[in-house]
Amino acid sequence: MNPYVNHGVLLHQGAEAKIYKCEFLGRTAIIKFRFSKKYRHPELDEKLTKKRITQEARSLLRCRNIGVQTPAVYFVDLDMGVLVLEYFDMAQTLKEHIFQAYEKYDTPGQYPPELVQVIENVGQKLAMIHNSDIIHGDLTSSNILVECQEGSEGNNVVKIIFIDFGLSSSSRLVEDKGVDLYVLEKAFLSTHPNSENLFGALIKSYKSHSTNCKGIISKYEEVKLRGRKRTMVG
Ligand SMILES: Nc1ncnc2c1ncn2[C@@H]1O[C@H](COP(=O)(O)OP(=O)(O)OP(=O)(O)O)[C@@H](O)[C@H]1O
Ligand SMILES: [Mg+2]
Repeated sequence: MNPYVNHGVLLHQGAEAKIYKCEFLGRTAIIKFRFSKKYRHPELDEKLTKKRITQEARSLLRCRNIGVQTPAVYFVDLDMGVLVLEYFDMAQTLKEHIFQAYEKYDTPGQYPPELVQVIENVGQKLAMIHNSDIIHGDLTSSNILVECQEGSEGNNVVKIIFIDFGLSSSSRLVEDKGVDLYVLEKAFLSTHPNSENLFGALIKSYKSHSTNCKGIISKYEEVKLRGRKRTMVG
């Protein structure tokens, strides 16, 4: 048992990590505990765990520096496999957000304008991430949080928060950015039925905020085509 999580409440059990809600120096926080994988060689497992935690902490900080919201990093313990992060109390995953919006607006292929705005916001933030040569590596609608709050003038303030950077890396290559987009598209279309046009809005916004959209989008189209051919061959 990891001593850090004695007083935490388990929020989520992923394939590689457990997420606990806890108090950290008077703040509500989450503990992301990467447990060891018994099927891996212990030395390799330790190396991989440390690499993922280091990459996650590094990319979370880099994103914050360029104005993309991510959880603040409160504490890192590589030997124990622990990352303590800011908890977004009022946020839901983009996945939950989309399902909720779909429930309210039951016309296949059409989406509420607020949802399109959220998606455009995601496209813009992702372009900012790629403009800084950060590759997320595991983009899905569960790894993006949406926080909607009422602003001081009664307006709706929406925050897009990127999480789960354990597979992230640093790269200038258009291919890596194109693959990042492709991974998101695959996850997006398989999780959210009739979302082709919605994803189209994300790509449109991405293009208008990307500093190198031509190269990236042509790689993305190429990877997509390769993926389709593979599916057709079987
Ligand atoms: N800072 C946070 N604030 C609020 N909720 C969070 C935060 N970080 C993670 N969560 C919640 O916990 C879930 C899992 O977190 P995360 O994606 O970082 O871990 P994971 O183990 O990699 O999950 P998976 O294996 O399912 O991808 C998120 O989808 C989200 O619901
Ligand atoms: Mg995740």
